[in-house]
Amino acid sequence: MPGVAFDDAGHGFGAAVAVLRWGGGKRLKLIFAYPSKLRQGKEQISTVAECPTGWGLVASVIRRTALHVDSTTDIDRKAIAQVFTPAGVARFMAARASRIGEEFTFIDAGAGAGVLAAAMCERIAGLPRPRRVVVELYETDPAVLAVLRQTIAECRKVLAANGHHLEATVHEEDFVLRRPGASLYAPSPRTGYADVVLMNPPYAKLAKDSPQARAFAEIVHGQPNVYALFMAAAVELLRAGGELVAITPRSYCNGLYFREFRRWLLARMSLRHIHLFQSRRETFKDSEVLQESVITVAVKQPEQAAEVLVSVSHGADIEDAKPTARAACTIIDDPSGACVIRLPAESSDLAIMRAVEAWSGTFADRGLRISTGPVVAFRATQYLLDSADDPDAVPLLSIHNVRPFATVWPVAKGTKPVALRAVNGAAALVLPAQNYVLLRRFSAKEEHRRLTASPYLPTDAERRRPVALENHINYVTHTRRELTEAEVHGLVALFNSALLDRYFRVLSGNTQVNATEIRTIPFPDLRAIARIGDRVAGLTSNDRAEIEAAVLDVLGIPQSLLLGAAETAA
Ligand SMILES: C[S@@+](CC[C@H](N)C(=O)[O-])C[C@H]1O[C@@H](n2cnc3c(N)ncnc32)[C@H](O)[C@@H]1O
Repeated sequence: MPGVAFDDAGHGFGAAVAVLRWGGGKRLKLIFAYPSKLRQGKEQISTVAECPTGWGLVASVIRRTALHVDSTTDIDRKAIAQVFTPAGVARFMAARASRIGEEFTFIDAGAGAGVLAAAMCERIAGLPRPRRVVVELYETDPAVLAVLRQTIAECRKVLAANGHHLEATVHEEDFVLRRPGASLYAPSPRTGYADVVLMNPPYAKLAKDSPQARAFAEIVHGQPNVYALFMAAAVELLRAGGELVAITPRSYCNGLYFREFRRWLLARMSLRHIHLFQSRRETFKDSEVLQESVITVAVKQPEQAAEVLVSVSHGADIEDAKPTARAACTIIDDPSGACVIRLPAESSDLAIMRAVEAWSGTFADRGLRISTGPVVAFRATQYLLDSADDPDAVPLLSIHNVRPFATVWPVAKGTKPVALRAVNGAAALVLPAQNYVLLRRFSAKEEHRRLTASPYLPTDAERRRPVALENHINYVTHTRRELTEAEVHGLVALFNSALLDRYFRVLSGNTQVNATEIRTIPFPDLRAIARIGDRVAGLTSNDRAEIEAAVLDVLGIPQSLLLGAAETAA
């Protein structure tokens, strides 16, 4: 039998499907169905420990994980950020280790039920014998430790049956706090010993003064997230040439909060492969984790390799993902100093990057300013109004008022306030009614489009009263004067264009549109923007394709660049 592949990623914990591939491409599918949560131990898959190969180690962990999930509460698991890796993803990660020598040491950090270690052992079981394998597992949840130990026992047995030797140590301790006192900027090479670190670390924001954040103060800027500290701790434990394979949120790839971490990481590690899950909902469908996530594969060596592999999947289809080699300078935006890790998911994204990055200035260089609306609803409750009838009422604009190409007010939206009482004490919450571009700060979780903008062009009558903007929207002004109507229309057309939206998505996987990121993106000059505005204002409809064509035409970008990329309004 040339190969056995397991494919249960599409089935969550509900079923395991073993696909036996025979010579000549024939496939025989064996389906082991079992109740979705395996209540009362009614397992229908017999233990695989006796199997002569590593076959089934991962399936076995998935089965045990389901029992663990049943015996614990969602609330308890959520409190410790315990989300389990699906089988297909675990195997994909284990397969990323480039070399498994006769002596092989690996670490599973935040091991949970041990699916990543099991995936690695499953792989090793099929290798020529004998291999001497050392695995260290870190896990702090007492409730999952018994499950983890069962996994280890089974891995040991299966590897022994295949002529290998496994030595395993479960460290019931905090992976981040185990860091020895060595300076991060001068890690001793003696401390690095692991060939590979595999991890699906917890994702949780930490207080800046938490012991974990203090242990890695050098890389913390703004609010730290424990997953980045896990990655840093792993880097220290790798030997030179060792490999990190981590599934994490994509958020570390861009943004100010992770900038110090990226600089630190990329000074020590060479990115080899980034796999992007465009839909986390699909990948972790049993959990509530919804951010875009990535698998980062990096090698401990200070010089970045010339190329980085990029692959993309929408979730469970990870096995079919075809990696493409990209020049490292395309992926890592070094000149900006922010070391942003850009992810061109489609080949047309490269052409979009080239076109946008040909603009010589940034948003801020063009004299534009982006700010967040000053009204934080829960802090301003005494000024919020359900109707605009109050004599002191001024329009309150929020995310639902910002439609592509149109600011719509008032909008009946549940119990949302529509106006603000502009009385003494609320002066800091209102702005002069003048020309603005409004930009949503958040897109819906699974909405593809990130940038949605509308014009705010008050009439003379409207200019007599101020306007209130809620903090879920950003607004754009000129630093020295009021924006002209043409500039507003041009900016709205540009923000709503597939061109800029796709460029933004290459930079950021976040549903949030941060003002800091907008400030630094390349931007055409204001004269070109005003020309776009004039063209768009002359159009008789709000047809998205026509507006896109006008944007590209004025900017001298061939229409073919976005062929098939026109996106409909949200
Ligand atoms: C996202 S889960 C992943 C579990 C498992 N590796 C998998 O892929 O299915 C992260 C695990 O890390 C554990 N954990 C959380 N904080 C930890 C820490 N500081 N040190 C070690 N383990 C931790 C949690 O209990 C949880 O089991």
